[in-house]
Amino acid sequence: MLREPLPSFDPSAAPGEPFPLFLKWLAGAVRCGVSEPHAMALATVDREGRPDLRIVALRDATADGWAFATDADSPKSRQLTDCPQAALGFHWREQGRQIRLRGPVVRADEATAAEDFRSRLPGSRAATLVGRQSEPLADRAELAGAYAEALARVTADPDLTTPVHALFLLRPATVEFWQGAPGRGHVRLRYTAAATGWTRDQLWP
Ligand SMILES: Cc1cc2nc3c(=O)[nH]c(=O)nc-3n(C[C@H](O)[C@H](O)[C@H](O)COP(=O)(O)O)c2cc1C
Repeated sequence: MLREPLPSFDPSAAPGEPFPLFLKWLAGAVRCGVSEPHAMALATVDREGRPDLRIVALRDATADGWAFATDADSPKSRQLTDCPQAALGFHWREQGRQIRLRGPVVRADEATAAEDFRSRLPGSRAATLVGRQSEPLADRAELAGAYAEALARVTADPDLTTPVHALFLLRPATVEFWQGAPGRGHVRLRYTAAATGWTRDQLWP
């Protein structure tokens, strides 16, 4: 059940490109107190075509793409190497809003990933340094030891970087903005990348 009042969304007043609208909606989500508005679902497929899904944090968004960071040896990184296509989904429940993106994914170069890594808090850098994301963990004490050791390393060397930190950029081919409305009159606007720019379509709910 959607709570009222929900924000209004007039597609005829939407900009010609999705990025400014994303920024406007993101700022609106922050203002509205949406919990973790930067958390987004990331869908990938493995080499057998089987889908996979998890939440990741949006690291940056520009007109060039939406960035997220992860362990370079994680299942999602392997999937993105095998099939460099993905989908992202934001759900801002408090506002009845959803944003969906689909498109090719590229991995950022090492210097850009290193810059992103250094911008993180020490605890987050240490967690990345520990690595082994999604490998079976036999003993939590082993994790605690590895984390303490990694934290000591990042504290001793704030410029330390690691190839384990991978930064990916999804360059959307489509971006859909979904605004829930009472009476199921939901408003949907989909942008599609074309050679000449972006086209826009409203969709049946
Ligand atoms: C709110 C939230 C934010 C998260 N952010 C990240 C992230 O930015 N990068 C990441 O690798 N995992 C993040 N995770 C953990 C992932 O959901 C997932 O457990 C992990 O990346 C392993 O995924 P994989 O086995 O599909 O590679 C986050 C989880 C939550 C709930």
